[in-house]
Amino acid sequence: MSGSKVRDPSLAGEGRLKIEWAERHMPVLMLLRSRYAQSKPLAGLRISAALHVTKETAVLVRTLRDWGATLFLVPSNPLSTQDDVAAALAEEGITVEAWRGMSEQEYFSAIRDAARQAPDIVIDDGADLHVTIHEEMPEVGKRVIGGNEETTTGIIRLRAMESAGKLLYPIIAVNNALTKYLFDNRYGTGQSSIDGILRATNVLLAGKRVVVAGYGWVGRGIANRARGMGARVIVTEVDPIRALEAVMDGFDVMSMEEAAKVGDVFITATGDRDVITKEHMMLMKDGAILANAGHFNVEVSVSDLESIAVSKREIRPNTVEYTLPNGRKLYLLAEGRLINLVAAEGHPSEVMDMSFANQALAVLYHVNNRGKLRPGVYEVPREQDEEVARLKLETMGIHIDRLSPAQEEYLRSWR
Ligand code: ADE
Repeated sequence: MSGSKVRDPSLAGEGRLKIEWAERHMPVLMLLRSRYAQSKPLAGLRISAALHVTKETAVLVRTLRDWGATLFLVPSNPLSTQDDVAAALAEEGITVEAWRGMSEQEYFSAIRDAARQAPDIVIDDGADLHVTIHEEMPEVGKRVIGGNEETTTGIIRLRAMESAGKLLYPIIAVNNALTKYLFDNRYGTGQSSIDGILRATNVLLAGKRVVVAGYGWVGRGIANRARGMGARVIVTEVDPIRALEAVMDGFDVMSMEEAAKVGDVFITATGDRDVITKEHMMLMKDGAILANAGHFNVEVSVSDLESIAVSKREIRPNTVEYTLPNGRKLYLLAEGRLINLVAAEGHPSEVMDMSFANQALAVLYHVNNRGKLRPGVYEVPREQDEEVARLKLETMGIHIDRLSPAQEEYLRSWR
């Protein structure tokens, strides 16, 4: 088990089957895996990765291992680990320190252990590992070749570090690849957040008033999926342009204060804190359901809910009933953490295929450009994005047209 700490090693068999299922649905990453399995471009390199420990992450980790790297895997959220997958990876000799339900302290202890490996490459989802290395172990950071960041929230943190002149190594904003956020953030989170709400509650969405806070890519995905299931969707926004888009996409748009009075199900997807506070909670209808799809558990103010509630009980797995002083009951899902990863299995493999193909190729990019990139946040090269899109279409058996020379010439000409 090579120093792994997992919940239950006997779950490895179930984990292996899950990973096999994911591999079947991640053809681009599998193709890349075999492309470099012989040449082993990562031989001798250590990679520390803080990612949700899911079957899809396992496919990425196996790929990097097959390319020659030694991996240390920790979670990027205390509640998102799939224990069977963690057990399977540990059994294969990949070092994993992750189990579902870690305390905050255990979580950060795992993050620190990942930092202590003196990694050559750092892969992160949310930037807790990057920030820990920079704040607590700068000597480790100084010898990192490069890092990747998977998510919008993490990139916001890293850009702030870059502006403050604090970054110690180059970081590729994998999230910003078109073949990542246009699909993963929108279709992946859209479907899996609804999936999480349904697994937690099994309520009927048709006819319900579903309030989506935030109309970024994630919010758009959720709003459209909810509408597709017959929900009457309300969007709340702070950005006037996005709000207008939501209106013209056919959604009702209003303030959270107004939405609070009419909503049946609330889903936050803003990346910011205090989107739903006790003032909103006190306006809500009896039975309202609260869930969060953003990276951190700060969007629904759980501390507000805890402070105003007169009692609480777990009524179903991932569903806690809070009774308010006005006698109404609110239902908080997944402790206000990422609903799609806590109550369901995260994004489906088909979209993680593109996200993690980008992760793997970004690792290669760092290695191929070793010593050439200054500390900073870098976008994914356009050629990489197009390569991932091309491979994805190819594996889906979809052919597209090519410009004829005459068409190319026409586009180049101003006449
Ligand atoms: N983030 C969202 N969904 C995920 C998944 N299935 N695996 C890893 N990270 C994710």
